Amino acid sequence: MSKDIYYPNPELFPNARIPDMDSYYKLVDEFKNDYEGTWAKFADEKIDWFKPYEKVLDESNAPFYKWFSGGELNVAYQCVDRHLSSKKNKAAIIFEGDNGDQRVLTYRELSYEVNKTANMFKNNFGVKKGDRVVIYMPMIPESAVVMLACAKIGAIHSVVFGGFSAEALRDRIIDAGAKLVVTADGAFRKGKPYMLKPVVDKALEEGCESVEHVCIVERNGEDIEWIEGRDYSYNELIKSQSPKCEPEPMEAEEPLFLLYTSGSTGKPKGVQHSQAGYILWAQMTMEWVFDIQDNDTFWCTADIGWITGHTYIVYGPLACGATTVMFEGVPTFPDAGRCWKMVEEYQINQFYTAPTAIRLLHKMGADEPSKYDLSSLRVLGTVGEPIDPPAWKWYYEAVGGSRCSIVDTYWQTETGGHMISPIPSATPIKPACATFPLPGIEAEIIEEDGTPTPVGEKGFMCITKPWPSMIRTIWNDPDRFVKSYFSDCKKDGKAVYFTGDGAMMDEDGYITITGRTDDVINVSGHRMGTAEVEAAIKKHPNVAAVAVVGKPHEIKGEGIFAYVVLKSVPVSQKDEVADDLETIKEINAIIKEEIGAIALCDGMAFVPDLPKTRSGKIMRRILRSIVKGEPITQDTSTLEDPTIVPTIEEIVKGLY
Ligand code: WTA
Repeated sequence: MSKDIYYPNPELFPNARIPDMDSYYKLVDEFKNDYEGTWAKFADEKIDWFKPYEKVLDESNAPFYKWFSGGELNVAYQCVDRHLSSKKNKAAIIFEGDNGDQRVLTYRELSYEVNKTANMFKNNFGVKKGDRVVIYMPMIPESAVVMLACAKIGAIHSVVFGGFSAEALRDRIIDAGAKLVVTADGAFRKGKPYMLKPVVDKALEEGCESVEHVCIVERNGEDIEWIEGRDYSYNELIKSQSPKCEPEPMEAEEPLFLLYTSGSTGKPKGVQHSQAGYILWAQMTMEWVFDIQDNDTFWCTADIGWITGHTYIVYGPLACGATTVMFEGVPTFPDAGRCWKMVEEYQINQFYTAPTAIRLLHKMGADEPSKYDLSSLRVLGTVGEPIDPPAWKWYYEAVGGSRCSIVDTYWQTETGGHMISPIPSATPIKPACATFPLPGIEAEIIEEDGTPTPVGEKGFMCITKPWPSMIRTIWNDPDRFVKSYFSDCKKDGKAVYFTGDGAMMDEDGYITITGRTDDVINVSGHRMGTAEVEAAIKKHPNVAAVAVVGKPHEIKGEGIFAYVVLKSVPVSQKDEVADDLETIKEINAIIKEEIGAIALCDGMAFVPDLPKTRSGKIMRRILRSIVKGEPITQDTSTLEDPTIVPTIEEIVKGLY
């Protein structure tokens, strides 16, 4: 084994469910020997069923797998109501605002708010089981309350990240056919108010006929416009609701939520998750990967607009009856010690964030952690993109005091919960490595035909057996579901789930994720489809063609770089750089309007043409190499115009 191995500190994990590697392998074997039986054992133990299921796994309509068919439950009951008998005065959600304001919701208070909200949705907005509710909210406790209220009455929520533009929000509202939109006036960031409601107003200007009402939570108190008959104040309506609400019995496979995510082509996909399978795995991974214990305070810094926020701020922690922290602000305000101050104050036991945040905090405040007492920490988590060894080392030493386990968790919106991750109490960790699949997860690195990729080589990261929390379908588009996930790789002649990521195994069996194999760019841990960004850029009247690729970025991991062919002569060739800057500004303004600030370009080159094959396919690999300053290893002789490559190289070199 390589020397660079970090062993868990057993003193930190006296109550671990998987205390060592022997227990890990035992559990892995248990699943291998009796896959369905072992899942059934956990489902019986973890879920409060209203009605028992009839079948553990139904593969008859693969890849539309069904788990726990016939069983009935309610996820809000699982996350809130069932804890009232033993934890009614325990903190469920600890909220800290951008400006430092604090609020604690106990399980009793959470249940009170969820029930009232659920009744409001039913009584005032006529929301029924199966209706879609789009949530466009900041990081405030009401966001979790609204999600759980939907779950309580069987409505399907679709949270849209608050950084998305009106256009992006509109597309998602229309695709989901939402009946109700829940938003806030706005919130606070870096000490200043920002607005959300005007974005909803703009989104609803066109094509959103399904939307009957907009419900607005007051957060920053700024003035907003009210449309008579459509817009209602959450804070007013909540006052008159009954705090009693019976949970809607939900069949295991009915949709719990949709969450839109980017693919390599076309519009964002509405990833559909189930009730039982999803909540089961959210709960199990909280226990295994975060070692959640009754007295712990768990903090995941993600936004609820992403899957990480769904599974590890709201559903996972609450299903476990744990205390979850929600933070409205940014980690660098008022200074780069904000997170560590919060860890000290709330005595956080598990801290879960993205490599991009770690790199930023490292750069802006390498010594900040030493100013605070971080001794409550046991587990440090990362998610969303590969973490680089220097960031890992700083996280381990400066934040974790060389005591804590770091869990590099690999998973996706589509997987519902972690797939590959160290178990903090058991796994000897190699820095910046996701290590081993979790028990029950058949994650394999294979070639397209299912043969295992040799050790030390890059292959396709596939999950070769269905698992309970897997994506069920793409909303409105089952064909795309099959095409996107179950058509690239096969094992034993059967289509298996392909993640879109490449991975490599070392001689000790450790798995490292090497990144996307498709045209998805990972910007600060957020998935951006090149096609979406290109479609936005093409809206500029002077753009003839465009190709977008990822470019390594010190903090973001990857930034967005665009190669743009203009209709008129590229002005830079006429030495009119000011005009170029104007075009860049205009293009970025369009991106902001079409998608949101997260998709802004970090660099742009105006080129006379793109490297295309004779059949018209853009060779993005060449464009990726050029922006990285790597030598071009691809064969360029098949290009329509091979001379374009050195020309583009010259232009890009001139930019830096
Ligand atoms: C990437 C986020 C390396 C990967 C939960 C995946 C990672 C995409 C890791 C999913 C990790 C996530 N190491 N890469 N630990 N975790 N990724 O859907 O490319 O927003 O396909 O889900 O992020 O992003 P998503």
